[in-house]
Amino acid sequence: MWSDSNPFSLTKHNHVFVKFAVSFLLIGLAFRLLVSDSIRFSSVVETPSIEQMTKTESPEANTLPIEEEEPGAIDFAANENQTAVSNDSAANTTQISETGECDLFTGDWIPDPSGPLYDNRSCLAIEGHQNCMKNGRADSGYLYWRWNPQGCDLPMFNPKKFLDLMRDKSWAFIGDSISRNHVQSLLCILSQVEQADEVYHDEEYRSKIWHFPGHNFTLSVIWTPFLTKADIFEDMNGVSSSEIQLHLDVLDNKWIDQYRNFDYAVIAGGKWFLKTAIYLENNSVAGCHYCPGKNLTELGFDYAYRKVLQLIFDFIARSDHRAFIFFRTTTPDHFENGEWFSGGTCKRKVPFKEGEIDMRDVDETMRNIELEEFDKAAALGSEKGVTLKLLDTTRLSLLRPDGHPGPYRQFQPFSKDKNAKVQNDCLHWCLPGPIDSWNDLVLEILVNSRLR
Ligand SMILES: *[C@@H]1O[C@H](CO)[C@@H](O)[C@H](O)[C@H]1NC(C)=O
Ligand SMILES: *[C@@H]1O[C@H](CO)[C@@H](O)[C@H](O)[C@H]1NC(C)=O
Ligand SMILES: *[C@@H]1O[C@H](CO)[C@@H](O)[C@H](O)[C@H]1NC(C)=O
Ligand SMILES: *[C@@H]1O[C@H](CO)[C@@H](O)[C@H](O)[C@H]1NC(C)=O
Ligand SMILES: *[C@@H]1O[C@H](CO)[C@@H](O)[C@H](O)[C@H]1NC(C)=O
Ligand SMILES: *[C@@H]1O[C@H](CO)[C@@H](O)[C@H](O)[C@H]1NC(C)=O
Ligand SMILES: *[C@@H]1O[C@H](CO)[C@@H](O)[C@H](O)[C@H]1NC(C)=O
Repeated sequence: MWSDSNPFSLTKHNHVFVKFAVSFLLIGLAFRLLVSDSIRFSSVVETPSIEQMTKTESPEANTLPIEEEEPGAIDFAANENQTAVSNDSAANTTQISETGECDLFTGDWIPDPSGPLYDNRSCLAIEGHQNCMKNGRADSGYLYWRWNPQGCDLPMFNPKKFLDLMRDKSWAFIGDSISRNHVQSLLCILSQVEQADEVYHDEEYRSKIWHFPGHNFTLSVIWTPFLTKADIFEDMNGVSSSEIQLHLDVLDNKWIDQYRNFDYAVIAGGKWFLKTAIYLENNSVAGCHYCPGKNLTELGFDYAYRKVLQLIFDFIARSDHRAFIFFRTTTPDHFENGEWFSGGTCKRKVPFKEGEIDMRDVDETMRNIELEEFDKAAALGSEKGVTLKLLDTTRLSLLRPDGHPGPYRQFQPFSKDKNAKVQNDCLHWCLPGPIDSWNDLVLEILVNSRLR
C-alpha cells in the first residue's frame, strides 16, 4: 500500500501522468506511484550541496520532463530570497523563549554504542515498508547515533516514566504517513514496558487506536494529510483520477470531532501541500496549485499552507479544551542522484555534520511558515491556557540521510537479482531509526513543561 504509506502520490494532469508512466516503463522500474511536487521543485532549485552530490550518473532524471512542467517551480524561485535568510535564528528564538535554557533542536548526532531500545523482534508494530532489518538492510551503523542538542542534556526516552505520566490519558498523532511512522516508533519503545492492544483501525489501516490496559492509556493516529477538509481522488496505488479539492477554511472532522477526547496531541502538516490541488474557500474555487490549462489563479502551496495553519492554530488556541499540543515541523527527504521517480537513492551510511547539507527551499519555506504561524498562535494560546509546543524536527532530521529504508521498503529487494531496479523510499524512516529520537524530544519537552 504505497499510497497509504506515503504522503506522495500522483496527482497530475493526465499528460504529465502519461509522460511519467512512460519514463517509468523506460527505466524498467517496478513501481507504485508516488509523487511530490517538492521533488520536482528541488530538482529545479537545488541547494549547492545536493547539486554536487547529484551531478553524477543520473541519466534517467535528465530524460524526465522536469523543468518544463512546473509553474510552481518558477514561483518558488521567486520566493527563494525571502526564505534563504532565516538561518536558524527563528528556531533559536522560538526554542529559547520556550525552555529558557537550551535549544533542543540545534546540535549534532553523536555515536551512541548503546543502540536502539527495540528491534524488529521485540516490536511487532513496525510497518513492513519501514522494517528495514527484516527487509534485508545489512548495515546497522545508522542505529548507533543519538541526538545531542547544543547546551542541553537530552535523556534517552524512558518508557516507564512516559507511561506513568500518561495514566488515564489519551494521546493522538494527527497528520500524514510520517505521523504514523512516528506513532509506530513510540509504540515500539513503549512495548518494552507494556504491549498495546489495537482497538480500532479504519478500512485502509491508516487511522488506528491502541489501548495500554495496565496504564489505561489510549494512543491514536489519525490520518488527515491536509488537516482540513479535502476530497482526494486517489486509489490505493496513489493514482489520481482528479485533482484534490482542498478546503482552506474547513477543518477535517476526522480530528476535530475527537479533539475533546485528547489530553495530548502531536499535529503535523507538510508534504501533501506540495501536490496539485484546487483550493476552495467559502465553498467556492479560490484558485489552485499547479493546474495549467484550468484558467485558475495559481495561489502557490505556501498560500494554502499558511491559511490552513492559521485555521488550525486558531482553532486550538481558542478552544476551551485545554489540551497539550505539539506542532511538528515538516520532514525533509534525502533522494540523491535522481528523485523518487528517476532512480533516486539514499545510500549514505552516516549522518551529516551541521553545515554539510542545506535545507531544500521547499522545506525552508514550509518551516518558515510553520515557525511564523506557530509563534503567533503560541502567544494567543498561552493567554487562553492552551499549551502549544514546537517540535522542530526538520533540521535534526535533515542531518540523517542514512536513516531511510531506501530499497528496503520492500522485503529482500535484491534476493532474486542483485542489480534489480527498486523503488527507493528516502522520506520515511527505518524503525528502529532516527525518528526514535523525536520521542526523546517529546518526553523532554513534556517533563520540562511540567516542572515549570
Ligand atoms: C535575490 O536577491 C538578489 C539581490 O539581493 C537579486 O539580485 C535577485 O534578483 C533576487 N532573486 C530573486 C529571485 O528575487
Ligand atoms: C548563518 O549565520 C552565520 C552567523 O550568523 C553565518 O556565519 C553563516 O554564513 C550563515 N549561513 C547562511 C547559510 O546564511
Ligand atoms: C543559536 O543559539 C546558540 C546558543 O544556544 C548560539 O550559539 C547561536 O549563535 C545561535 N544561532 C543563531 C543563528 O542565532
Ligand atoms: C528481524 O531481522 C532479522 C535480520 O536482521 C531477520 O533475520 C528476522 O527474520 C527478523 N525478524 C522479524 C520477526 O521480523
Ligand atoms: C480510563 O481513562 C479514561 C480517560 O482517558 C477515563 O474516562 C476512564 O474512567 C478510565 N478508566 C478507568 C478504569 O480508570
Ligand atoms: C461566504 O459566502 C457567504 C455567502 O455567499 C458570504 O455572506 C460570506 O461573507 C462569505 N464569507 C467569506 C469569508 O468570504
Ligand atoms: C479565464 O477566466 C476569466 C475570468 O474568470 C475569463 O474572463 C477568461 O475569458 C478566461 N479565459 C479562458 C481562456 O477561458
